[in-house]
Amino acid sequence: MKIKKAVIPAAGLGTRMLPATKTIPKEMLPLLDKPVIQYIIEEAVASGIEEILVITNRAKSAMDDYFDYHPELEERLLRDGKIKECEAVRRSADLAEIFYVRQKETKGLGHAIWRAKSFVGNEPFAVLLGDDIMRSQTPVLKQLIDAAEKYNACCVGTQAVADDAVSRYSSLKVSPLEDTIYKVTDMNEKPSPEEKFSNFAILGRYVLTPAIFPILENTPPGKGGEIQLTDGLKQLCLSGHPFVAKEFEGRRYDTGNLCGFLEATLDFALDAPETGDFLREYIKSKA
Ligand code: G1P
Repeated sequence: MKIKKAVIPAAGLGTRMLPATKTIPKEMLPLLDKPVIQYIIEEAVASGIEEILVITNRAKSAMDDYFDYHPELEERLLRDGKIKECEAVRRSADLAEIFYVRQKETKGLGHAIWRAKSFVGNEPFAVLLGDDIMRSQTPVLKQLIDAAEKYNACCVGTQAVADDAVSRYSSLKVSPLEDTIYKVTDMNEKPSPEEKFSNFAILGRYVLTPAIFPILENTPPGKGGEIQLTDGLKQLCLSGHPFVAKEFEGRRYDTGNLCGFLEATLDFALDAPETGDFLREYIKSKA
């Protein structure tokens, strides 16, 4: 099982970050000096992914422009001796082979992933949610790929979340296989307290097999009236398809809401050599 393809669903409306996201795709909001989606693509590439499909919509063309060359700008930067800036501009376009397909209707995450069917073909593939930024020693997707390959199974990234947060995620029914890897036997999307299986939630990373596509094709709308990926994965699980969860090492940030975005911005800025000392001093001056 070699995983070379990834899908990044980025067709959401970004309603939690309005008004900025009225004209800027939320995936293009800058975390320090790079757009959020670049961190996701860098994690994919660092995990061995070579081809990436971004699921977009009609308001998101800023994303494909960003991952394209910009000859005029590059020429100007070179002429002005701004070599570092020129390299950064070029690097974003050379990160990976990136493809785009539009989700023509906003029908949910399951429907967005189903749009990747032709791109994926017959191989296992990764999914990285565009809002979920990870900071870890080993790239989180790589941790999942290793577990998926070891068990020849689908794999979701998980961590235990607080009791009052379970209803914002999908809750997994699990039994331990080894330290940090669990067998998954069932799951529920955004469960009520009665529906919850455990505090282990799916957090933004998946390794799936094409067996999910015929299921998604027939998955009816679920929570929020949308076709949910979790509902499709539940079917896959219940049909006996090998399925594991990897309790990944690392910190996850939900950059789709203001506080998560702020946490990520501060943590990344504190770590970056260009901004770390400045920010520490600035925070001290405010205390
Ligand atoms: C989505 C998924 C959910 C998952 C969550 C975090 O929810 O539907 O199963 O737990 O991402 O990765 P959303 O945050 O889009 O509401």
